[in-house]
Amino acid sequence: MSEHTASQQAALARSAELEQQVQEDPQKFRVLTGDRPTGPLHIGHYFGSLTNRIRLQNLGVEVIVLIADYQVMTDQVAGHQLPATVRGIVADYLAAGIDPARSTIFTHSAVAALNELVVPFLSLVSDAELHRNPTVKAETDATGKPPTGLMLIYPVHQAADILFCRANLVPVGLDQLPHLEITRLIARRFNDRYADQPLFPEPEALLTKTPLLMGLDGHKMSKTRGNGIPLRASEDQTAAVIRRAPTDSDRHITYDPTGRPAIANLLELLAAATGDDPQRLADDIGSRGAGHLKRTLTEAINELLRPLRNRRTDITDDPAYLNQVLTTGNQRARCIAEHTLAEVHNTLGMTYANLADDGA
Ligand code: TRP
Repeated sequence: MSEHTASQQAALARSAELEQQVQEDPQKFRVLTGDRPTGPLHIGHYFGSLTNRIRLQNLGVEVIVLIADYQVMTDQVAGHQLPATVRGIVADYLAAGIDPARSTIFTHSAVAALNELVVPFLSLVSDAELHRNPTVKAETDATGKPPTGLMLIYPVHQAADILFCRANLVPVGLDQLPHLEITRLIARRFNDRYADQPLFPEPEALLTKTPLLMGLDGHKMSKTRGNGIPLRASEDQTAAVIRRAPTDSDRHITYDPTGRPAIANLLELLAAATGDDPQRLADDIGSRGAGHLKRTLTEAINELLRPLRNRRTDITDDPAYLNQVLTTGNQRARCIAEHTLAEVHNTLGMTYANLADDGA
């Protein structure tokens, strides 16, 4: 494990406090979280964020889940794939246990008022602040191309995602902290510059405990790389992905994240799937070797996901239901966003035409 910086340490401590408060008074919190629809959700999402969202929902926290379809335009995903991808992700959510009676699932493109918040928010950040963002920098370094305008305002769009519903809690990994900082900055500046009474909360990070799981090829697990195990994969496909994972030449299995990262990653996946400890699992497998480790991992993942996969099949057999979940979620998000935008307009004095019928 790498060392944490002082600000990461502070965020971890604060997050532990928040976790305590969530347990004591879940109704104080509204959670906003999201995924970019770049492909089917995989076990990285499952262990990293999905199980946490469901845990919060089941504790009684209000959970709002965004499928960030406008944001995905930064990845140049072909539009014709989008309907199937988005519906597939909704099916993944529902199969994993997101309950549409308690939680809201919606897409950017269905909620115009959310996107409109980007305009006043852009007045609150400088060009230099936008360019300084680590994600934008990473993207520019990776592609060698200057960022598009959309990429540049990505953190401002994300602020609108979070603030439109006045979420006060955002479950994220440590890598997403800089984004949340910009959201907090925008909320603070909006309140200070424009509002008599604070309109937006400064949302806080609830840091996810699961370590970042690497993909089966040792690179960061990503939908685009195809190195994760999609939740919807068949048992045979799951076995095939795990069989292809690189190992090393030492037959005896030990848990050594720095010296043997490939083996350590398989052990961490197995630990996540079974709730066991990677060190203990390594001792257990020992001289039975990497083949045995892979077979054990395949069985554990398939067993863990079997009920989810069965539910998923039932859900995708009923497209009308999927459709209805998204329609209802979009409707609800629109209602919240329009209310917030009306308050923003009020705060900014943009109320000339609707004074008579302004009952909001
Ligand atoms: N940026 C997130 C990702 O790449 C997705 C996302 C969009 C998001 N808007 C958000 C996450 C708001 C949390 C809050 O996965």
